[in-house]
Amino acid sequence: MPIETLRWTDSELVIVDQTLLPNELREITLATEESVWEAIKSLRVRGAPAIGVCAALGVLVGARERCAVGGLSMRDAALAAADYLATSRPTAVNLFWALDRMRRVLGAASPDSGDADIFSLLEAEAVEILAEDKRLCRAIGEHGAPLIGEGDGVLTHCNAGGLATADYGTALAVMFRAHEKGRGFRAYADETRPLLQGARLTAWELQKAGIDVTLICDNMAAQVMKEGRIQLCLVGSDRIAANGDAANKIGTYGVALLAKAHGIPFYVAAPLSTIDPSLATGDEIPIEQRDAEEVTNGFGRRTAPVGIDVYNPAFDVTPASLIAGIVTEIGILRPPYVESICKSV
Ligand code: MRU
Repeated sequence: MPIETLRWTDSELVIVDQTLLPNELREITLATEESVWEAIKSLRVRGAPAIGVCAALGVLVGARERCAVGGLSMRDAALAAADYLATSRPTAVNLFWALDRMRRVLGAASPDSGDADIFSLLEAEAVEILAEDKRLCRAIGEHGAPLIGEGDGVLTHCNAGGLATADYGTALAVMFRAHEKGRGFRAYADETRPLLQGARLTAWELQKAGIDVTLICDNMAAQVMKEGRIQLCLVGSDRIAANGDAANKIGTYGVALLAKAHGIPFYVAAPLSTIDPSLATGDEIPIEQRDAEEVTNGFGRRTAPVGIDVYNPAFDVTPASLIAGIVTEIGILRPPYVESICKSV
């Protein structure tokens, strides 16, 4: 049974709390706008597409709350909620993309619409964003599956699985689909310091799906490639610039450089909503900086001296020149990306 990363049931936003995985699979209800913001910020819900879907549903939570408590019209309440949720995390463009879709609904609604009508329109849009994400992920899996050959070793970094989307994933969708088609391959999951999305989430998802998966520490990737164990690298993305430069979890750029050094194709899998054509290159992608504590005190135990200086960027940008293709819901975009992206978005 696929896990529902997040759902809108009986007018409630319910998510899997990913900070508890793999030890505990627990759903929580996000009943306030503040709790939606906190869930995104603290990575209870994470991964670019899932953040976007959660924010869209979060607008419903926030609009309802601000309307009831703050006495605002539903329209103003929704706009305020969207502005607030946009401050939760800066890198994944899907967040802003989904909030813009919600704002456009407000822009298109008749000025005479009452609060209940406005809420219904917003709800229909958010639910459609969620349903659409599920469909797109299946299409990404379908287009990408032929990239995996029989007996291949496939390295991935961070988690671009069902948990990072409404379900099924992007990079992992490619693996899920290849597995469903009977292809035999071995996945290698980088553990992904400092928050271990690879170890906690990717290894868990792949194992649950019955895919052979080996967990490695991030610093083992070069050796594993040199030993000839990897034939393909597949990762997700949080934002792709118009020239194909792609931001993803910190460490992805290093994997791409290693892949290049070993002659291994490196692919990014992402929906078109992850492409930000307003940015000419990856240099313009805002990179989230996170708390030092994630590095020094990761999972409840101090592993560095008190008072140590820490640098903790959450993402890096892989230059387009290192990317063999971008697997999207409409097919695989190939270089030169300035052209293939321009034609697609
Ligand atoms: O900080 P996170 O866990 O939200 O980072 C997630 C990633 O980097 C994913 O690879 C990316 O969002 C793509 S998810 C399909």
